[in-house]
Formats: sequence, C-alpha cells, structure tokens
Amino acid sequence: MIESMMGLLDNYTEDQLRDIAAYYAAQDTKVGQADSSNFELGQRIYRAGNLSGGVPACTGCHGPQGKGVESAGYPKLSGQKAEYVVTSLVAYKTGERVHSSNAKIMQGIAARLTTEEIRAVANYVSGLY
Ligand code: HEC
Repeated sequence: MIESMMGLLDNYTEDQLRDIAAYYAAQDTKVGQADSSNFELGQRIYRAGNLSGGVPACTGCHGPQGKGVESAGYPKLSGQKAEYVVTSLVAYKTGERVHSSNAKIMQGIAARLTTEEIRAVANYVSGLY
C-alpha cells in the first residue's frame, strides 16, 4: 500500500500538495461504498453505543479502529463491507446466527439496534481502518 504511493507525489511542489490536500478536505467524506448521510449516527453508536437503548459501545470489544481482539474472540470489523455487517447484525438480531456461545454476546447487542442504527453503524465500520 505504502510502496504504491511512493514516487506518486514526487513531481508536485509543496504548494501544489497543499492545494490537493485542501481540495480533498473540502469534499464530503464517502465511507466505504455507502452514503455519508448516516455517518454521524454510525460513529456515535460505534464509539458510544446508545445509552437509552442499552447498546454498549462497539469500541469496548472491537476496538477504536475495529481491529478486534483475536485472543478474546472479538473479530476484526475494520474494512468489512457494509452489506456484510448489516447481514451479520440482522442474523444476530433474528437469532439465525447462533453458531457459537460468543454469538450470544452479539445477539443481545443486535437485538437492541434499530434497522436504521444497523445501517449506520455498518456504514461507519466499512470505513474504519
Ligand atoms: C461485549 C463485547 C462486544 C461488543 C460491545 C460488541 N461486539 Fe460485536 N462481536 C463480539 C463477539 C464476541 C463477536 C463474535 C461472535 C460470534 O462468534 O459470532 C462479535 C461479532 C460481531 C460481528 C460479526 C463479525 C464477523 O466477522 O462475522 C459484527 C458485524 C459485530 N460484532 C458488530 C458489532 C457492533 C456494530 C457493535 C456495536 C453496536 C458490537 N459488535 C459490539 C463482541 C462484541
């Protein structure tokens, strides 16, 4: 990844690079392949949970960058496709995904998420690296 960027920016002056950075900073951030309209809701759920709904912050187990804790059985979420995350959360919510005792942890959480919150948090996760 890093190697592929090397040399790419060599022909730009510092001023040009600053202009390019300013241009991108001014664009709407697109997260994953989903739209950015629910980014804030997704970020809030991921980082802080939903107190009124009793949803714990996802960061508590999956980590701030979504890297997970393999040794504890908390899977990595960063970079997952939003559709995959939605499908997984819905499967926990409906009880379709019960293959492990760990799945019970996610069932309790997904059951408290609304469809809108699932979409938003899935969108957010797909952009985490
Ligand atoms: C208390 C710890 C804990 C919290 C908090 C938690 N998770 Fe999980 N999560 C787990 C565990 C354990 C698994 C693996 C369950 C299994 O084996 O099916 C998992 C699995 C998942 C998966 C499936 C990943 C895969 O690779 O198939 C998704 C998606 C997910 N969690 C999303 C979330 C989201 C979104 C939140 C916040 C709303 C959240 N989790 C909060 C522990 C947690």
